[in-house]
Amino acid sequence: MTRLYVWSLPTRLFHTLIVILVGLVFISAEFDNLLEYHAIVGFVIASLFIFRIGWGFLDVKYSNFKDFNFNLKDLQEYIFNIFGNKKQYTGHNPASSWAIMAMIILGLVSVLSGMVVYGTQEGMGVLSFLNISMFKDMDLFEDIHELFANAFMVVIFAHIAGVLLDRFFHNSKAVESMITGYKDGNKESLELTIFQKLFGILWIGLSISLLVYLLMTPSNVLIADANKPVDYKVEHKLFHDECISCHTLYPPFLLPKKSWVKMMDNLENHFGDDASLDVEDKESIKAYLILHSAENSTKESAYKILKSIKDKDIIAMTKTLYWKRKHDDIDKKIFENKKVGKISNCKACHNNIEQGLLNDKDIKIPRG
Ligand code: HEC
Ligand code: HEC
Repeated sequence: MTRLYVWSLPTRLFHTLIVILVGLVFISAEFDNLLEYHAIVGFVIASLFIFRIGWGFLDVKYSNFKDFNFNLKDLQEYIFNIFGNKKQYTGHNPASSWAIMAMIILGLVSVLSGMVVYGTQEGMGVLSFLNISMFKDMDLFEDIHELFANAFMVVIFAHIAGVLLDRFFHNSKAVESMITGYKDGNKESLELTIFQKLFGILWIGLSISLLVYLLMTPSNVLIADANKPVDYKVEHKLFHDECISCHTLYPPFLLPKKSWVKMMDNLENHFGDDASLDVEDKESIKAYLILHSAENSTKESAYKILKSIKDKDIIAMTKTLYWKRKHDDIDKKIFENKKVGKISNCKACHNNIEQGLLNDKDIKIPRG
């Protein structure tokens, strides 16, 4: 047995970056206002995986796909002997060979399906045009994305569990080898050709450059927000001036036609206030609200409020189940602190709701 060099620098850098980025992508998925970062990290993971596929065809010893062991008999033997006396592999063992393939495929499919969700649901990114044509399927795409992402996570945990078992039951040096590059064995060490080294530099260099570029240019095509702010003052001055005087200017797409009609026809008794207008003004605002109501919008919130209200007699979005569910996790004290005051002060957290923007990335909760 000698000390063998089995994992080249690009392979190890790739592995370290993937560990960090996959951690970040799963954490950021839990926070709506981190959606843009979630997407950015997803793209960088895709870039690293695509290069990894190229790397697998470059004849790099032990990282070469040709050297992976996809033999099902070997896999079975490997798994059944996981606590016993199993065969040691210098490169990837059968379980990690399958796991790596699964992670690359599931990772890439997760990113692709994520792009579809980002486009249909948020109107953002290269596929933002899908928001207009396919917004009705946004929930389906989200489910598909989550399914792939969860499968990806399951394989990752299986891979980590396998490596840890190996570490503690067989005293394997797999973990250390991914850091130092060295393993004990009686095969040959690896050596990179100039071309392989250049590819490695490109691989890691371009992926890190992509990360920096995406972070620094929020308007780039991969993540750009296609939702344009609306200047309600220009669109309908009366609606703007009248309806902003007591509370947040609620964008018309947050309620269906029926609710707007009912509310506008009863302004004398508007949630305990008298907000009455003369008939001409009232009809003008009502027509504008109907024209831009939830039924005529492709926004995620419009679509979901509509689904939540169905034919219930509701004229306040805060009374919808959808709104309640979305704000359930927020500490009640936050709604009472002096920066918010009351739940209807939407703009305290949704900075540009009065410009008709309600995307996840624009949510910021003010702390007491
Ligand atoms: C005289 C003050 C006043 C004016 C003017 C006014 N509102 Fe209101 N509105 C209220 C009050 C008070 C509430 C109850 C919620 C709150 O306490 O802020 C309310 C609530 C609402 C809600 C329900 C919000 C929720 O809880 O989901 C909507 C929608 C709404 N107003 C729309 C409008 C529109 C559209 C106009 C313009 C035609 C308008 N309001 C003008 C006082 C006013
Ligand atoms: C105290 C802060 C706060 C206030 C006030 C607030 N929201 Fe929110 N809102 C949030 C947070 C945080 C989320 C994200 C919750 C989640 O999805 O887990 C959210 C989510 C939403 C969503 C779903 C957005 C999406 O794309 O997923 C809508 C729609 C929404 N809020 C509308 C409103 C309206 C309308 C008001 C005022 C009547 C309001 N909110 C008041 C914090 C607030």
